[in-house]
Amino acid sequence: MDKKKYEFPKDFIWGAATASYQIEGGWNEDGTGESIWDRFSHTPGKVQDGDTGDVACDHYHRWEDDLEMIKKLGLKAYRFSVAWPRVLPNGSGMVSEAGLDFYNKLVDCLLKLDIEPYITLYHWDLPQKLQDKGGWPSRDIVEPFVEYADIVTRALGDRVKNWITFNEPWVSAFVGYEQGRHAPGHTHRGEALAASHHLLLSHGKAVPVIRANSRDANVGITLNLTPKYPASPSIADRDAATWDDGYLNRWFLDPLTGRGYPADMVESFGDLMFPIQPGDMKAISVPLDFIGVNYYTRNIVRSDKISEAENAAPTIIRGDEITEMDWEVYPEGLYKTLGRLYFDYDFPVIHITENGAAFVDTVNADGEVDDPARLSYIERHLKQVHRAIEAGIPVKGYFAWSLMDNFEWGFGYSKRFGLVYVDYETQKRIIKSSAKWYREIIAKNAVEEK
Ligand code: FCB
Repeated sequence: MDKKKYEFPKDFIWGAATASYQIEGGWNEDGTGESIWDRFSHTPGKVQDGDTGDVACDHYHRWEDDLEMIKKLGLKAYRFSVAWPRVLPNGSGMVSEAGLDFYNKLVDCLLKLDIEPYITLYHWDLPQKLQDKGGWPSRDIVEPFVEYADIVTRALGDRVKNWITFNEPWVSAFVGYEQGRHAPGHTHRGEALAASHHLLLSHGKAVPVIRANSRDANVGITLNLTPKYPASPSIADRDAATWDDGYLNRWFLDPLTGRGYPADMVESFGDLMFPIQPGDMKAISVPLDFIGVNYYTRNIVRSDKISEAENAAPTIIRGDEITEMDWEVYPEGLYKTLGRLYFDYDFPVIHITENGAAFVDTVNADGEVDDPARLSYIERHLKQVHRAIEAGIPVKGYFAWSLMDNFEWGFGYSKRFGLVYVDYETQKRIIKSSAKWYREIIAKNAVEEK
């Protein structure tokens, strides 16, 4: 029997992603300012095992070898983020030439290696000085962000043509200011809501500035989207799933596409809502060249208002394949999400800016890391990407999360997401079997049934 081959479009963008705080280290070198993640991770009890990003993967010193490794893996594109406090140690005003220079060299080297850079301007490492002035819940943050975006895109915009303003504004706002699991560790929903508005407004105001500095650039934003499935057809469960979808997905998708904040959510948030000034919603809905989606799992939602009898028998039960993050492996949800972005929201181009899984990895006696579960996770998600493309959905790129194991935020170094294993004692990199397989996929531009 013929093996099935899932061929991808000729110009499909194969990449991997990282983020500054998760890999760089060198947290206080060359005049770099303190970030909210430095402050948070240095506060006892905030991060698992007391881990910090002080050294991380030491990428700040090993970047040349790391870029060589990216080349060896056959990647066509690399998504990374710029650390705002490296470029503007105080958040605004004085620019650190050393900080800018680090990214200048990185970009030049990537281009020399023929790897397309995708830069995220904000992947959560806000300068602490700006948090001290109120952080994202304060409207005063918008101007410094636009200033920062201007400086970075002026410096790199001649060579970098793919810009992502924000990574997962939901996480910045709600995990940082409502749930307290991320920096700055606050627990107030009102702050989180205001933060979400200022993140979106900063995005909207920065887009034209980026376009002015980087001719013919593609500019977008990356959202974490998780489809919400009601556990049963009961009205209570469906209402709960709709609320969760509003909280995580529609709260960002709707304003970005000119629909404003979803009315059901505005009503639900009531007095906690923030003031919206004239022109805000127009700025936020500036047309984008692409939407980035980070997809990991789905959620099955059960209402706590449902009767016990109903709750005892959900019709949708979480599958039993679970990653180390306790996230269900559910590749179909990626297809569903991509369809929604195109058919419901009409985004012209979609990039999967993150997708991947944490599993326990061990170095075997031969010094190798065999990670079949990760390979299978990526393979099944790629089949769903292929299915989406066949259905006419304009998915143009896929970035595996992550290039290498790194600092997984509140979980410290306990969760490994890398295609490449990092031994944190020695900083040795070991190419996992999933990375070797991914290199083959890229070379063939196809996933083949085994
Ligand atoms: C996403 C983040 C990324 C990484 C993955 C596992 O939410 O954008 O930095 O932590 O999750």
